[in-house]
Amino acid sequence: MEMMVRRIEEVRERIRYARKKGKVIGFVPTMGYLHKGHISLIRRAKEECDFVVVSIFVNPTQFGPSEDYNRYPRDIERDKKILQDEKVDLLFVPEVSEIYPEGYKTFVNVEKYSEILEGKFRPGHFRGVCTIVLKLLNIVQPDKSYFGWKDAQQLIIIKKMVEDLNIPVEIVGCETIREDDGLACSSRNVYLNREQREKALCLYKALKRIEEMIKKENVNDCEKLIAEGEKVIKKEGGVELQYLEIVRISDLLPVEKIEKDVIVLGAIKIGDVRLIDNLRIE
Ligand code: PAF
Repeated sequence: MEMMVRRIEEVRERIRYARKKGKVIGFVPTMGYLHKGHISLIRRAKEECDFVVVSIFVNPTQFGPSEDYNRYPRDIERDKKILQDEKVDLLFVPEVSEIYPEGYKTFVNVEKYSEILEGKFRPGHFRGVCTIVLKLLNIVQPDKSYFGWKDAQQLIIIKKMVEDLNIPVEIVGCETIREDDGLACSSRNVYLNREQREKALCLYKALKRIEEMIKKENVNDCEKLIAEGEKVIKKEGGVELQYLEIVRISDLLPVEKIEKDVIVLGAIKIGDVRLIDNLRIE
């Protein structure tokens, strides 16, 4: 049977059939150009579920007008091959008009959570993310859906939306997958030239330095920790630091002193490539 479908109705039909057979449905939403991070989500879904659905949709509503929607990397044939090798049961690749037909009007917003950190630099981004994720969850109706900790704010916001709107799905957060030197895997890493690729590592280095200060040097003053992290990034040169913050995992609110379950999040820009990363301190 064809693994790839383009229409919502086809997804519903295949899901109905799998459900009838008593299968546990796992879902991994993506924007394609799959890398090791996506593959780890898919493998986790395969381990925990009987029928795994992957979607590939570069969602226009989560990109700002000056962002990279048009140049976002796309290679469906390559992705399809990867998903066949991973034995994914169903691949959903809708057209934009299937998801947002003319006259589309409804958007979902998780207030406050969406306005801070990434939200300050990407207004409207999480409104687009929540809207597409809710739509996809309604189309697929999975038991479990898988998201990477790499996009920590996205994961926390989606968990909040699922809780607030009583959506019957379990959201599973999966560890960030990194290249050998520590750079977090991202489809956007392909934008980096060699020199930028080397510079990109400074964000992870700053996060690791902060973690080391907390765990080995018992520093718990966040202002001090952030100042040291900023120093690591400034030392690199040619890198614009957009934010580096320490917040509570539960509600993304900033903390002054390190407490249980916080997360250090940062975003940098190198040329016109924007990269994010984070480390949880649990
Ligand atoms: O993380 C992503 O790739 C996207 O934000 C998602 C969750 C697939 C929604 O478009």
